[in-house]
Amino acid sequence: MTKDGAGSHKRVAILISGGGSNMVTLVNSMIGDHPARPCLVLSNIPDAGGLAKAADLGIETAVVDHRDYKGDRPGFEAAVTARLEAATPDIICLAGFMRILTEGFTGHWAGKCLNIHPSLLPKYKGLHTHQRAIDAGDVQAGCSVHEVTAELDGGPILGQARVPVLQGDTADDLAARVLVQEHLLYPAVLRRFAQGDKTPVFFG
Ligand code: GRF
Repeated sequence: MTKDGAGSHKRVAILISGGGSNMVTLVNSMIGDHPARPCLVLSNIPDAGGLAKAADLGIETAVVDHRDYKGDRPGFEAAVTARLEAATPDIICLAGFMRILTEGFTGHWAGKCLNIHPSLLPKYKGLHTHQRAIDAGDVQAGCSVHEVTAELDGGPILGQARVPVLQGDTADDLAARVLVQEHLLYPAVLRRFAQGDKTPVFFG
């Protein structure tokens, strides 16, 4: 139930570290009869480009700079959680958020936190996913939305979108092709998740 308990929209907080293109598509999707609305965009990077985009969209923003917590990951996560609690979110979407989160954070937000990862999980957890798919000679790649658990990029899959890997693709070529699908997949998964439906979404 939301903060006001009036049976109104689910409140969605979005965590970013960079340009926030996924955040923008999520925010723009939460209109009309969508069961959720954005309540906060938070970044660990003070000058993340997505913060200005969120402000332009009229969304409250916040920064918890991880560099203020050198070596104190639990302290950083506690500060993020405290700032999130102030916005009373029902759902948290990690969208290009580039910090590894420990059980301290994932346990606290269990069942409420989603992430988008640019590979067809369980393949290619971690970084450099597109180059790894190309190097492996894969003919398909894509993205996955999953529930966030203590295992990095390891929670239950809530959606996947597939794209072809084309002859001569660079990692940037493939990333651009996958990003288009990310912007379709994440909003579709969020809408379903906000309605309490965990049936996975599959595109392509
Ligand atoms: C995207 O490829 C996403 O899969 C990854 O971060 C990249 C940039 O995302 N997590 P965004 O443009 O900041 O949403």
